[in-house]
Amino acid sequence: MKHIFNKGKDTTKPTLLLLHGTGGNELDLLPLAGRIDDTASVLSVRGNVLENGMPRFFRRLAEGVFDEEDLIFRTKELNEFLNEAAEKYNFDRDNIMAIGYSNGANIAASLLFHYEDALRGAILHHPMVPRRGIELPDLSGKSLFIAAGTNDPMCPPEEADELQSLLEKAKADVKLHWENKGHRLTAEEVEAAAQWYRSL
Ligand code: MLT
Repeated sequence: MKHIFNKGKDTTKPTLLLLHGTGGNELDLLPLAGRIDDTASVLSVRGNVLENGMPRFFRRLAEGVFDEEDLIFRTKELNEFLNEAAEKYNFDRDNIMAIGYSNGANIAASLLFHYEDALRGAILHHPMVPRRGIELPDLSGKSLFIAAGTNDPMCPPEEADELQSLLEKAKADVKLHWENKGHRLTAEEVEAAAQWYRSL
């Protein structure tokens, strides 16, 4: 997958895996990584799917309606890419913290839904429930931060609540943070995520 890897000063820190929103690319979230931990290594990936020229991490059939078969395929593809990248760049495969926005948060959530060991933790900005009706792996020991909007038209508040509850049932530790700026990724929620990260 197309990506950027920047080795951090402190290789004991989690590798920050950046996953952009629809129409974004691997450059978009680089400033966020610096706000969360400027000593950590960063792996920023571009989604492999194009929707009218806009990069995404998996196909959708309509806004908010995911192509499940493609979601499962792309989740596996990303998980395998993480295995390869950890070998190539020599970082700890068991210490990856995803930071995703919107479509990128959804594929990060999908990694958690399908693979017990894909991520050590995640910061999910405006995620949705990636799939319903499946049993999640045991997510004990995973630290997750969700930022959601009380008035987000794309990812409604009930969906953020449902995601939190599904992840908690799988034994993850989940902090849910609310904003009221629609689907926007706000400076305030990034600061809240940074505070949460420092408290781990
Ligand atoms: C998705 O398709 O993943 C969500 O609708 C959010 C987005 O548009 O990126």
